[in-house]
Amino acid sequence: VEEGRDPNSCHRTALDAAPDLLQDAAAFVTDYGSGGVYPCSAHQDELAEIGRAADANWLQDEAITGFGRTGRWFAFQRGSERPDFVALGKGLTAGYAPGGALVLSESIVAALDGQRWATFSTWRGHTLSIEAISATLRVIADDELIERAAALGTLISARLKELASTHPSVTRIVGEGTVWNLELAGPAELSLAEWDGAAAIGAPSALLRSFALERGLLLRPLGPLGIWLLLPFTVSETVLERALVALDESLTELDAEPKSMVPAGQAGGDTA
Ligand SMILES: Cc1ncc(COP(=O)(O)O)c(C=O)c1O
Repeated sequence: VEEGRDPNSCHRTALDAAPDLLQDAAAFVTDYGSGGVYPCSAHQDELAEIGRAADANWLQDEAITGFGRTGRWFAFQRGSERPDFVALGKGLTAGYAPGGALVLSESIVAALDGQRWATFSTWRGHTLSIEAISATLRVIADDELIERAAALGTLISARLKELASTHPSVTRIVGEGTVWNLELAGPAELSLAEWDGAAAIGAPSALLRSFALERGLLLRPLGPLGIWLLLPFTVSETVLERALVALDESLTELDAEPKSMVPAGQAGGDTA
């Protein structure tokens, strides 16, 4: 879901640059969690084709988006192309023990057949982590948490759209399931490096975070203009409602901050 500006503009910019960028690349990584970049399925499939034509492997990072957060088991399942590698973490153990994994496609496994393949780590295959992984997968399926994340996504999407349409300090909302980004209005003429300095003296995301904290809501700024909302998909609707009310009030306070306001049309920037 994209609200607030033309999603195709940043998608096209990234895709148009991809053939040149990937010409001598061994691989490229996609991560839909960080930075508010949520390509649509057509974008993902087109990028996969460009990668294949350049003979560059596609590594999809699902450390954040894996295991139901987008309302599907994995974010990449939105498209029809499939990655060569999928990196897993976080949700793999639901945080109850350290655990990560790298999944290889059949063609990568075939390419490695007969090759020497050895990795070593003190904690590999640790019983506690393996038990945590098994239990997590069982609970996600038994408690229908993926379906729940999808339903929460519908609810959150509707509420965030309302917030985006009523608060001038919100320029864009993007996300699905329980992974969302809010983009806030700010002086678009500043480069990201300049903004890093500005963050120390009160960038919009830092201001919003402090307004929300006063209301008992902990927000994570993502750069000077981004706010990352990563809800546990076990969140009750009562707690979610309290969080959204606190966010609404905090945005009202941010709307009144002269520093964060820019004329319409100048907000945002290319996040691709
Ligand atoms: C998208 C993403 N990928 C990878 C990592 C690193 O994962 P790990 O600590 O399991 O190696 C993180 C965060 O810590 C992340 O947010």
